[in-house]
Order: sequence, then structure tokens, then C-alpha cells
Amino acid sequence: MAAGDSFYITTPIFYVNDVPHIGHAYTEVAADVLARWHRQRGDDTWLLTGTDEHGQKILRTAVANDTTPQAWADKLVEDAWKPLLQTIDISNDDFIRTTEPRHEKAVALFLQRLYDDGHIYSGEYEGYYCVGCEEYKQIDDLMETPDGDYTGQLVCKIHGRPVEILKEKNYFFRMSAFEDRLLDLYENTPDFVQPSSVRNEIIQFVKQGLDDLSISRSSFDWGIKVPWDDSHVVYVWFDALLNYITAVGYGADDEQFERRWPAVHLVGKDIARFHAVIWPAMLMAAGLEVPRAVFGHGWLLVGGEKMSKSKLTGIAPSQITDTFGSDAFRYYFLSAITFGQDGSFSWEDLSARYQAELANGFGNLASRVIAMVIKYFDGSIPAAPLDDVITSIEKRVTDAANTQIDAFAINEALATIWELVDALNGYITDTEPWALAKDPAQRGRLESVLATAVHGLGTLAVLLAPVLPKATARLWEAIGGNGVLESQRIDRAWEFDGGSRVSALEASLFPRIEAEAD
Ligand code: MSP
Repeated sequence: MAAGDSFYITTPIFYVNDVPHIGHAYTEVAADVLARWHRQRGDDTWLLTGTDEHGQKILRTAVANDTTPQAWADKLVEDAWKPLLQTIDISNDDFIRTTEPRHEKAVALFLQRLYDDGHIYSGEYEGYYCVGCEEYKQIDDLMETPDGDYTGQLVCKIHGRPVEILKEKNYFFRMSAFEDRLLDLYENTPDFVQPSSVRNEIIQFVKQGLDDLSISRSSFDWGIKVPWDDSHVVYVWFDALLNYITAVGYGADDEQFERRWPAVHLVGKDIARFHAVIWPAMLMAAGLEVPRAVFGHGWLLVGGEKMSKSKLTGIAPSQITDTFGSDAFRYYFLSAITFGQDGSFSWEDLSARYQAELANGFGNLASRVIAMVIKYFDGSIPAAPLDDVITSIEKRVTDAANTQIDAFAINEALATIWELVDALNGYITDTEPWALAKDPAQRGRLESVLATAVHGLGTLAVLLAPVLPKATARLWEAIGGNGVLESQRIDRAWEFDGGSRVSALEASLFPRIEAEAD
């Protein structure tokens, strides 16, 4: 992708039936890192996130809590979902709620257009419905529970809760008509669905044949009214998927829409089908461009199971950030888990990596180098020739990390950047600046070593700014970097605008964690 292009990236919009856990925060952080990276590459970047507020699940939660769904959603958005973005330092450009008029109006417009063009018909449907998934299920998606609370009942494999049998007169979207075009899309644009494990599953699914999709409900009224029949509300997924275009001006601001769309969608693999099958079919029917890519990431596992609130394995992001800080949260999940695969979370692993990689690896390096420049040069960064052994690594690492980010290989990009952290630590150990400082004849060599080390830190600040925005901002200030860190080009990180003086880091970038986190 050439610098300066439009880069529009989205997260799923989150159900407001409950408060966020680290699984939700994981998607947010990944999208945020990609957005920050692209901004730093000069791309015309837009990061969208938001909340999914209609449907039976929210309605039932509100009723169970003696309130209205709107009041419930308002409360959860203000008390839990918007604060999450602060907790983990998300730089979103917009936040869409599906109960906002801008969204509701544009959904009605889209639906009417599909109806007028013959893509929607009325019919009857009977099937198993999982309210947890907000989806009709096929028998293969269900299992019988031999024991436990729901003995002998059919339960959803994802939620482990009984499904309901629904029989309704609904409106249907002729999704089956798009089967061939979807298969062509997967074939001709191989990176439309990523990673390949998810792509294969999607192709397999579509090859089995697509049914038409029921897109309205008449048994409850918490949703957007179907424009030509107000006894029906729009199916929550149909409504929710449209957020990606309604938030960037579909039907209201053509200029904004042209500028942003199509998007890259980051989603959990459990909802890849909605994004890689239903969503492009909807867009095709409306004559709009399909997304640029759909990336389905893996699940965070706790004790070997998909972490979830309903199974009581949910961990609130603030439980981690209160002890380790938001930078460590961001770094840990993106470096410890191969992006696109499942990964296990444990407090032990988090603590160990924090200590080894952030505190000892990166934080100590910064403190030591800055302290030596203060001690030996009174804070002036020597203007001496830089050592090739480090500058060549800076260049290589920058190029490789940019390529890896383009391939959504976020953990690989971090591993690549860590090669520079390790190389700099090795360089300090090998060159022994404290020994050079004792010998006046080695003054020139000492100048080069410390100039090189500070240069390496500058490159690291630029490369790590998307992942560690707080720590790198402090480092940037300490090494006297010119201008705003976020404006330093990440595709030429080694050319950063360096300063002339360092100032002491008041506290380590990653202080030692005293108490055991639990
Ligand atoms: N509202 C729908 C999305 C609509 S998008 C048009 C939804 N919401 S959700 O709140 O249930 O889930 C949002 C995202 O969180 C999904 O991508 C899901 O995969 C992700 N995660 C939920 N639990 C997770 C883990 N344990 N691990 C990783 N991601 C997880 O689905």
C-alpha cells in the first residue's frame, strides 16, 4: 500500500448486554495499533468502533434489569464501553451507536433500496435460534448436553445454552443469488478473508450452498423499523453490519463515503461468517464496493476455554491495566499471541514478559543509555559518526516490520522490532561504554557508541509508538526528539528527527511490579 492512501479500519461493534472483557479489548487494541501505524505512515486513516444496541439479547437483559433497552444501552455505553477506550488508550476517530439517528436513517435507506431492487421478499421461517449469537442455527451448530443444567436439550455449541424454536413471517434477503459472486471474490481476491484458516472455512461454508437470510422480526420491537412495514424490525445483524458504512456517510455525505470506503474489518473468528459472507452479499446487492479485507483473529483462552463472561472466565481490562498499565496490556496481547490464532492468557506469562521484555529489555536500555549520556557528556548527545552495525539493523527492522504490518502479522512485527532492542543491549554489553569512559584516548569511540545508542532509541520510539504510546512519548521527550512523535514517519523510522540533548527519565519506562497480580 502506498503512503497517503485511505486506510479505514473497523472493530466489531460490541453488544451492550454486558461490560467489556479482555477479549473485546484485544480486538480494539489490534485495530488501534494498525490505525496508529498507518497514521504514522501518512495514510488518510480512520478508526471506527462502537456499540451494537438492538436485538433480543439487549432487550431481554434490559427487561431482566427492570429498565428499557435504550436506558440500559445508554448506561452501559457511558459507564463501560466508552471508558474502555480510555483504559486501553484507543485513538478511535469515531464511535457509532446503532441507536443513533444517523445510523437508523441510513439503514432504512439501504433496506428500501434493496427492497425496490427486488432483493427482498416476504416468507415464512421456522428454525432454531440462539439469542446469544442472535442467529438462526443449523442442526450442525448444536449439540445435546448429556448432563448439567440443560440435560437432554439442544444447546448452541458457542454459548452452551438452549436454542429456541422460532416460527415467523419474515422478510428475506435473496442471499443465495450471490453464491457464485462470493466464491469468485474469494478466488480472485485471495486476501479478502484472512488468515487462510478462516478463508478456507468460509469457502467451504459457501460451497455447501447459501440459504436466503431472514432479515426482519415481528415478535418484538427493539430494532429499526422496516421502512415499508412497521410491524417488523430489522434483524440485528443486518442492522449492525451496516454501521461500517452509515458511520462514514452512506446516504448522507457522499464525499466522506467516497473518501473512506471500503474498510478493513478486524473481527473475532466466530463472527467472520457474518462479515465475509452476509456483509459482502449485502453490499453487492446495493451496488457498493465490498470491504478491502476481513481479518478473523483468534480467541483469548483462559484455562483452555474461550474466555467469556457467561462462563465466568471474564477478566476486565482494568484488572490488568491497574497493575501493569495500558502500554503493557497492548504489548502483551499483541506480542504473546500469533495474530490470527487462539492464545492463552495467564497472569504468570504476563508478569514474566513484562519483566523480561518491557522492564529489563526495553526500559532498562533506555534508562542506561540516557544516564550514560548525562554522566559522560553532561546530557549533550555527541555528534559523532554512527556505527553501521546498529544503523543497518535499524533499516532492516523498519522495512521488515512495515511489511509484516501490511500482512496483519502484528506479533511478527513486534518480534522484529525486538531484534533491535536485543541488538542494542548486546551492543552496550560488547562496547562497554563505562570502560571506554575511563580512557581519554577512547573519547571519540565513546562518542560514537553513545550517539549510536541514542539513535537506536529514537528509532525504537518511532517504531513502538503505535503499540506503546505512553512509554514512547516519555522516551521521545527524554532523548529530545524534535517535533511530535506521532508525526515521525514509521516507514523511515531510522531517519527520525533527532535532538541534541537528553534529559533524565524521572521513572523507569516500565517500573518493577512489586505486588503479585492476582
Ligand atoms: N455485536 C456483534 C458484532 C457486530 S459487528 C457488526 C458481536 N459483539 S460481541 O460483543 O459479542 O463481540 C465482539 C467481538 O469480541 C467479536 O469479534 C468477538 O470475537 C470478540 N471476542 C469475544 N470474546 C472473545 C475472546 N475470548 N477472545 C477474543 N475475542 C473475543 O459479536
